[in-house]
Amino acid sequence: MLVTGGAGFIGANFVHMVARTRPEVSIVVVDKLTYAGNPANLAGLDSARVQLVQADIADAAAMDELVAAADTVVHFAAESHNDNSLRDPAPFVHTNLVGTFTLLEAARRHDVRFHHVSTDEVFGDLELGAATRFSETTPYQPSSPYSATKAGSDHLVRAWVRSFGLRATISNCSNNYGPFQHIEKFIPRQITNILDGRTPKLYGTGAQVRDWIHVDDHNRAVLDILDRGRLGHTYNIGADQPELSNRDVIELICRLMGATDAAGRPIYEHVADRPGHDQRYAMDATKLRAELGWQPAFADFEAGLRQTIEWYTQHPQWWHAAKEATEAAYAAQGH
Ligand code: NAD
Ligand code: TYD
Repeated sequence: MLVTGGAGFIGANFVHMVARTRPEVSIVVVDKLTYAGNPANLAGLDSARVQLVQADIADAAAMDELVAAADTVVHFAAESHNDNSLRDPAPFVHTNLVGTFTLLEAARRHDVRFHHVSTDEVFGDLELGAATRFSETTPYQPSSPYSATKAGSDHLVRAWVRSFGLRATISNCSNNYGPFQHIEKFIPRQITNILDGRTPKLYGTGAQVRDWIHVDDHNRAVLDILDRGRLGHTYNIGADQPELSNRDVIELICRLMGATDAAGRPIYEHVADRPGHDQRYAMDATKLRAELGWQPAFADFEAGLRQTIEWYTQHPQWWHAAKEATEAAYAAQGH
């Protein structure tokens, strides 16, 4: 199995899960090791079964060789952060579009099974307070350079299925949380702010809603799709949690970590809102549940969040070196 982006957050959790649950599978991780990729995320794995190759997925010669040697490609590699895409969209076009194209061409040449990992953000956003949800047939309406390049990559995969008969599936998942998530992202940024003596930062009013899912639930769904998903099909992944605004989430983190004032009120500050900020995401994962029998194991967000807080608390050496630069980049953006 060739896992692209396997030194990043979701990819590394996926590699650990496959190593743990599928002893017959050997894994090659291909990762450029950008600021978001960390070989330490793969520490402790048996080197006879998991190999890390540092390369750019847009390097056609390198991808041809790696894909030729694989039965399956699971494609996680991406530039993944909206705020970075507003600072500089160029690497997003390179990795998410050119990189995905390069992998698709290699998979087509060698007739390799391909799974493309994508996001609910391709659908744009939903109205706050509405009961609407994204389904697999919701029209694409991405808002940011990140989501536009992910949307483009999904279209490339579908075109390679239809025009060239590529054996591919796509999954679109909602916001993930869990261990190994880069501290630029909302939840680990606030946890590490509190651990580091900084004030948690909420964009704008914090009324926006995200549909949180534990990374292990996402990855079990990817495995189910690889095992039993219909070729050419897309599956939405989401955990059907009660809707929480960003303000609800930051206040919960503050309470769980004791970042409260004498009156028990959570301590955080409002900072500049994100331009073009998507208001609400909500996934309808009925197809995944009905066809593949998948359901989330982390049905209780607060319990998953406690486990995640515990992980960041226990692993300061994993995140501390990146904290200063991450916060400096945010400060320059007014966040
Ligand atoms: P991440 O930023 O933590 O990891 C991305 C990994 O890709 C890093 O290891 C990085 O080094 C690698 N990478 C980047 N550019 C590369 C290139 N040109 N060549 C090779 N490797 C490269 O991202 P993540 O949060 O783990 O997301 C993984 C995938 O899941 C992405 O495709 C993302 O769009 C998708 N996704 C993420 C979420 C989420 O909440 N994080 C939700 C749904 C879907
Ligand atoms: P993020 O983790 O960047 O994911 P996405 O943009 O893919 O949804 O942000 C999640 C939400 O949290 C989003 O609405 C922006 C908001 N946010 C904050 O309020 N404060 C922060 O420090 C960050 C990073 C995000």
